[in-house]
Amino acid sequence: MRIGIYPGSFDPLTYGHLDIIERAIKICDKLIVGILVNSAKKSLFSLEERVEMLKRCCSEINQNIEIVSFSGLLVDFCRDKKISCIVRGLRAVSDFEYEITIASINKRLAPDIETVFLMGRDENLFVSSTLVKEIATYNADISSLVPSYVASRIREKFSAS
Ligand code: PNS
Repeated sequence: MRIGIYPGSFDPLTYGHLDIIERAIKICDKLIVGILVNSAKKSLFSLEERVEMLKRCCSEINQNIEIVSFSGLLVDFCRDKKISCIVRGLRAVSDFEYEITIASINKRLAPDIETVFLMGRDENLFVSSTLVKEIATYNADISSLVPSYVASRIREKFSAS
């Protein structure tokens, strides 16, 4: 059984992430979406909120998708869960340097684990969580960037602040 992981911060989940999740489950028997626990990085949504949003938005894609949080080194988590492949999305060329750095570090730490890059749909090429948060700050329309449930949660956050 080929178990893959799609790791990330998912703060918040975007249509770009969902696009990669839908593609990744086609090449893995089971896909773990791993949300990094990173207390050093300020996030809009708590870990619990991100897990809940991902669970809700992925529930109808495929039964073989599991949403979990992880801390520490990604490759250690992979070994623990018998994960053989790390999936990352590639958007514009600007992603490349960051992604190749992570992939080569992971390869050095765990030569037996492969990183696979998937390209999302054209319309998601410039969709990022950072961009979504910036646009939402100005109360602009984010409905083409995130699922409607996530959009409503973001609106709640900004109206509360
Ligand atoms: O969505 P992001 O924030 O770009 O995801 C980055 C992530 C979570 C894939 C990366 O930071 C990660 O794997 N962190 C876990 C710690 C680790 O393994 N570090 C070594 C490789 S960078």
